[in-house]
Amino acid sequence: MPYRLTVLGTGYLGATHAACMAELGFEVLGLDVDPEKIATLQRGELPIHEPGLEELLRRHLATGRLRFTTSYEEAAAFGDVHFVCVGTPQKKGEYAADVSYLDAVIESLAPHLDRDCLVVGKSTVPVGTAQRLADKLAALAGPQVELAWNPEFLREGFAVQDTLKPDRLVFGVASERAEKILRDVYGPLGDVPIVVTDFPTAELVKSAANAFLATKISFINAMAEVCEAAHADVRQLSLALSFDERIGGRFLNPGLGFGGGCLPKDIRAFMARAGELGADQALTFLREVDAINMRRRARMVDLARDLVGGSFHTKTVGVLGAAFKPNSDDIRDSPALDVALTIGQQGGAVTVYDPVALTNARKAHPTLDYADSALDATRHADVVLLLTEWQEFVELDPERVGSVVSARNIVDGRNALDAETWRAAGWNYRALGRP
Ligand code: UGA
Repeated sequence: MPYRLTVLGTGYLGATHAACMAELGFEVLGLDVDPEKIATLQRGELPIHEPGLEELLRRHLATGRLRFTTSYEEAAAFGDVHFVCVGTPQKKGEYAADVSYLDAVIESLAPHLDRDCLVVGKSTVPVGTAQRLADKLAALAGPQVELAWNPEFLREGFAVQDTLKPDRLVFGVASERAEKILRDVYGPLGDVPIVVTDFPTAELVKSAANAFLATKISFINAMAEVCEAAHADVRQLSLALSFDERIGGRFLNPGLGFGGGCLPKDIRAFMARAGELGADQALTFLREVDAINMRRRARMVDLARDLVGGSFHTKTVGVLGAAFKPNSDDIRDSPALDVALTIGQQGGAVTVYDPVALTNARKAHPTLDYADSALDATRHADVVLLLTEWQEFVELDPERVGSVVSARNIVDGRNALDAETWRAAGWNYRALGRP
């Protein structure tokens, strides 16, 4: 009999994992404590924008392999393997991660577990969490229930692809039995490199991966700061670096920097945890990574203000982009909205457009003005800011946009546009890190 899987927590990670595991042929039961979310998913609707995921969801609701519930009792009775996919947000007012949702899952599930099963944590956690949860699980459910840690590396916007074709799998296990179960579950993925390790290493792999990615982005953005001071061009610099295979070109795009629900909070939680362990010096550089990243947002505001004559008062600003990156409607810690809000606070009349993130943006920031198209957002603008590099913006016609603005000023916050084309159309084109 193939294993029956549950996915506990059906947010970004959980909804993706549940649908993808059903695609691999398993029977999957998704659980969330939010009845509205469960009802939405059960209707075949996705509460988030993620290319390809809604199709998978519908396909496997139809095959009957995928179902949803709010009942832990039902989940405990159903599952041989329980994947825990709840969020670990930044605590309010401090750097550390809030792992209380994980504890809640273990406390809710454990009392109902009355047979052999494996509980698999996928959430991003401070190192040491897995062992603590394993002890808790053993105390609440007994020795027939085991914990494993299997961090997730998917990117929003590519979640399905990253789950079905991961570049590696990491199994943090305490027994050969746990390793075998995980190998069986992921077997249908085919030939994927697998690293089998202990709990703390598995937890740290995830923190280290996101810290490295954030560092790479902030490295190129630090070079952008130097380029600005030296009248050099960071895009050409980045291109030249990318040909060195030891460096590589991915995650070396200079611009407004990183945001989202992962990189910013993960590097902060990592620093906080290292501090608790007495290893804070090892990660002091991440403070700088964070600071460089936040300075890009301030620099963007400064550049825009310069272009409109030194003050935003009585000025109209058209903002293209609200999502933290293209192909996503996620606005958590979005650099684009951060910039839009700051300019609004400094007296500018800001109008924002985004192809898919407007509903979320309107809900979270009702004080900003929104438009339903790029042209409407840029109408009468004294300056246009490209803050999220949606393909739709890359393809904008400079003449067309030029015909609706008040002044042909643009700041390309993502180094996504062809500067020559825009300049040829009479635009005063500025970008982060370039002359
Ligand atoms: C990130 C990691 O890439 C995933 O591997 C990880 O699984 C995930 O966090 C997570 O921890 O769950 P994600 O937050 O979806 O994924 O977004 P990224 O594609 O990493 O982009 C993060 C931010 O960096 C975005 O704001 C993006 O605009 C920015 N970025 C990215 C740059 O500014 N420059 C670049 O060259 C690349």
